[in-house]
Amino acid sequence: MPAVSSVLVDGVAHLVTNDPALGPGPLGEVPDAAVVVEAGRVAWCGPRTRAPAADVRVDAAGRCLIPGFVDSHSHVVFAGDRSREFGDRMSGRPYEAGGIRTTVAATRAASDTDLLGTATRLLREARAQGTTTLEIKSGYGLSTADEQRCLRAAARLTDETTFLGAHVVPPEYDGDTDGYVDLVTGGMLEACAPHARWIDVFCERGAFDEHQARRVLRAGRDRGLMPRVHGNQLGPGPGVRLAVAEGAASVDHCTHLSDDDVAALAGSASGGGPATVATLLPGVDFSTRQPYPDARALLDAGAPVALATDCNPGSCFTSSMALCIALAVREMRMSPEEALRAATAGGAAALRRDDVGHLAVGARADMVLLEAPNPVYLAYRPGVPQVAAVWKDGELVAG
Ligand code: NIG
Ligand code: FE
Repeated sequence: MPAVSSVLVDGVAHLVTNDPALGPGPLGEVPDAAVVVEAGRVAWCGPRTRAPAADVRVDAAGRCLIPGFVDSHSHVVFAGDRSREFGDRMSGRPYEAGGIRTTVAATRAASDTDLLGTATRLLREARAQGTTTLEIKSGYGLSTADEQRCLRAAARLTDETTFLGAHVVPPEYDGDTDGYVDLVTGGMLEACAPHARWIDVFCERGAFDEHQARRVLRAGRDRGLMPRVHGNQLGPGPGVRLAVAEGAASVDHCTHLSDDDVAALAGSASGGGPATVATLLPGVDFSTRQPYPDARALLDAGAPVALATDCNPGSCFTSSMALCIALAVREMRMSPEEALRAATAGGAAALRRDDVGHLAVGARADMVLLEAPNPVYLAYRPGVPQVAAVWKDGELVAG
């Protein structure tokens, strides 16, 4: 075992802490800063002239240090390829939830080794781009055995595992959605719950209606899983209000929102308890030619907002949080600061985590050194790799 030592990251032109007590603005920015890491946590941060001594010094050389991205929504356990479906879509065919079944067939036919291999590659790809926390869902198995093995693979890679047996109805239950919900809330849940932290449901036309989605969330909660929801992706619907009513940590997509939906999300944040976060997935709207969600309405109403990739083979095959930030700024009128906060602290709130998504003393030392003097560059230089180094729990994992 190497001796535990402290590391001083010095010469940081711009430190993003996400802690307004440490610096101005929503990002709690400290100029000309330093950070000391000890035992995987932030032990000190502030102006570099006041930094304490440490065993090892790393020179950030006038670059920008931000909290690692918290990507609170992905489906990276799958097999197969849907590039042709994407091509057809770009020629005018609409996106439909039914495409999910293509991936279900391929996933069922794949070995455990192949499923874990693909997910591991995508996790590494995400990490190299600055993602230090990645939520991973099941949802392409849709049988008890296949959902369970997808979750076992996910649990090898992250603590943030989500059981999404209620993704769509598999072909063998065609015409019997309620029968499939019986399975999801019965034997499948029993088999999957030990491997999951969260329960999720796709509440949408063509998937599960409000009543069925509520059954899924409540069964999961009775089995110790915390709820989150896919909602209002393909059209207006009950997903957002159901998520708020059930106390879900997050409702994801929110592409089609009514005024009542926005008010419900804002209201969840003013109730004193933990809020339901609106997790926006602009990569999906980009890749499915949907309108973008009205982030301004949410932010202006005081609703908590997160950004995530939704990395999956159908609706959005990107692992790049920087792309999501650039889309949020350009297409959704979020400021660069709002977008970065949503991609870090916002994701942490969507996962109800207080140890990630910020860089105050005591937080996990999940940090990204950007090849940039300030965080505006994430949106200012879209498509350009700008991650110079990534630390997770204080250990250098990329760069
Ligand atoms: O979050 N909305 C439902 N599920 C995924 C899409 C999965 C797929 O098309 O394979 C999503 O976009
Ligand atoms: Fe999704």
